[in-house]
Amino acid sequence: MPSWERIIRLADLSDRRAVRVACKGHALCLSLAGGSPVAVADECAHRNTALSGGLVRDGILTCPGHFWRYDLRTGQCINRPDRVASHECRVADGWVHVLMPDPAPVLGLRAMLLAVAGRARDTGAATTGPGHPPRP
Ligand code: FES
Repeated sequence: MPSWERIIRLADLSDRRAVRVACKGHALCLSLAGGSPVAVADECAHRNTALSGGLVRDGILTCPGHFWRYDLRTGQCINRPDRVASHECRVADGWVHVLMPDPAPVLGLRAMLLAVAGRARDTGAATTGPGHPPRP
């Protein structure tokens, strides 16, 4: 069940950089946009680089990996259909509270390998290359 979690002091956020905070098994990327706190998943939709290492300007974060740009208010990538999860924020007594989903499930090795294999199958990544002849 989603719950509001006290995450960071509002005074510790900036509108020019982002910070990474772990909460309930999720990594968050927090910053300010228009003076209000914003929180998105700290994992780029492209290759999972931590978005918190990027620069922020006018509520837009540039991923340090390959420079995809995200609107931190929505998690939507600009000029691409990709997005990252965004989390509702509110301020109380100088603290930023974030609405967090249930803890991320802890996967065993078998479950992780099956999940990776499923993603590779869906994208066709494991069907070509050395040792993986193309499927008919
Ligand atoms: S990892 Fe973010 S743009 Fe490539």
